[in-house]
Amino acid sequence: MKIAILASEGAPYVKSGGLGDVMEALPSALARIPGNEVILILPYYKKVKENPAFHTELVVQYEVTLGWRRQYAGLMKLTGRADGVQVYFIDSEYYFGARPGAIYGDMDDGERFAFFSRACLDAMALIRYIPDMIQCNDWQTAAAPVYLQAMYRHHFPNTRCMYTIHNIEYQGWAHGGFFDDVLGLPWEYRGRLDMNGSVNMMKGAIETCDLVTTVSETYARELMYPYYAHGLDGVISSAAWKLTGITNGIDVNTFNPLTDPALPAHYDADSFVQGKAACKAALQAEVGLPVRPDAPLMVMVTRLAGHKGLDLLCYIARRLLQEEDCQLLILGTGEKQFEQFFMDLAEEYPDQVAAKITFNLGLAARIYAGGDIYLMPSKSEPCGLSQMNAMRYGTIPVVHATGGLRDTVPPVDEKGQGGLGFTFQSYNGDDFYASIKRCLTLYNKDRDAFRALQHRDMCQDFSWNKPAQRYMELFRRMCGQ
Ligand code: GLC
Repeated sequence: MKIAILASEGAPYVKSGGLGDVMEALPSALARIPGNEVILILPYYKKVKENPAFHTELVVQYEVTLGWRRQYAGLMKLTGRADGVQVYFIDSEYYFGARPGAIYGDMDDGERFAFFSRACLDAMALIRYIPDMIQCNDWQTAAAPVYLQAMYRHHFPNTRCMYTIHNIEYQGWAHGGFFDDVLGLPWEYRGRLDMNGSVNMMKGAIETCDLVTTVSETYARELMYPYYAHGLDGVISSAAWKLTGITNGIDVNTFNPLTDPALPAHYDADSFVQGKAACKAALQAEVGLPVRPDAPLMVMVTRLAGHKGLDLLCYIARRLLQEEDCQLLILGTGEKQFEQFFMDLAEEYPDQVAAKITFNLGLAARIYAGGDIYLMPSKSEPCGLSQMNAMRYGTIPVVHATGGLRDTVPPVDEKGQGGLGFTFQSYNGDDFYASIKRCLTLYNKDRDAFRALQHRDMCQDFSWNKPAQRYMELFRRMCGQ
């Protein structure tokens, strides 16, 4: 099957979050399935263009129409990737190459990614790459399913389109005039994209694609409710017949405590007791905490954003630190109020708290390995990847039972049996506190049971093999195969 994947980010070229991880591992996993031919198309951002590690050659130059605009685009082909995925970049000095900043956040993001979506379809038409499946991701490529149906059917008569929601919070809103001025779509599509007079690109994709997926089964159900859907609950409910949840995997080769080059000691499910102890001591020293093997080390690697549940942690932090002989280590950047809170906390409790307000992938890996307990109280979480990284490295998750956290962390009982971690049901600081306490009790009072749980977590299959098979089942169903 010929599969084209369109996305606004993909590691190792460009990554701002979980989407970038998924766009590294999923195309690879699909390409490993015999009979598949997979291409991945990404924007040619300045930092990708300037990175000497990525070699490209120009395939074709063309113009993309956006309303009254005709914009230059160049299709660049990456050379030298070994896993069977052919990567292409869409070059545009105006929309990507000359933007110095982060990959998102410009005033004209709507126009930039409408351009990208259309440029991908034009590129495939020009090189006569006619995929069986186009898979689009999040709002940035949401215009592609709409263009495909409205204006590109003569090029792609039988191509099916899957639209995947990684996070419904960001929908691609624009003012009503954007429809004619930028998108330049036929008038009869106006209603598909309309939300109360504005343009909503995610809505357009949901309504025009053949199938919608999201990144966990629980999130697929949650999206029917206003609490989670950020205004799109009605749209999702009407599309429920074509909505499926497929829980993400993680790249188990990159995230492997036996080989991870960032770690000071290596281990697997049979040698983790010594291995993790060495990683923990090195980590405590690295971040300036007292090197204490027996103090439970609670860790978090996260964007410091409200929906990650930081308000709950702020609410319980002082109580927890006073009542429990434990350590807390946070790595991440984000909203100023949280950065400040954790820096203050580290100053107030220097023997118990370390806050690293930075982005550091190596340190993140050492935290997954050196921690005992991984906190993830997200208010909502479409899938979440770091809880799986933590479990793979033998660190026990304490999570809010929502979205993908609910699907990947079945709860244990008081003896630490029957599940993979500790969960709390309602989004509330005291319940979070109680679940941390249960975890600490197991750690302090029954170390054998805690270790048995670590062993069980490390033995789980979090690879992309099963999710990739589920994508294939849907692709085949859509293509009538
Ligand atoms: C988004 C979601 C996260 C998910 C990731 C990859 O970043 O917030 O939960 O794991 O996408 O699908």
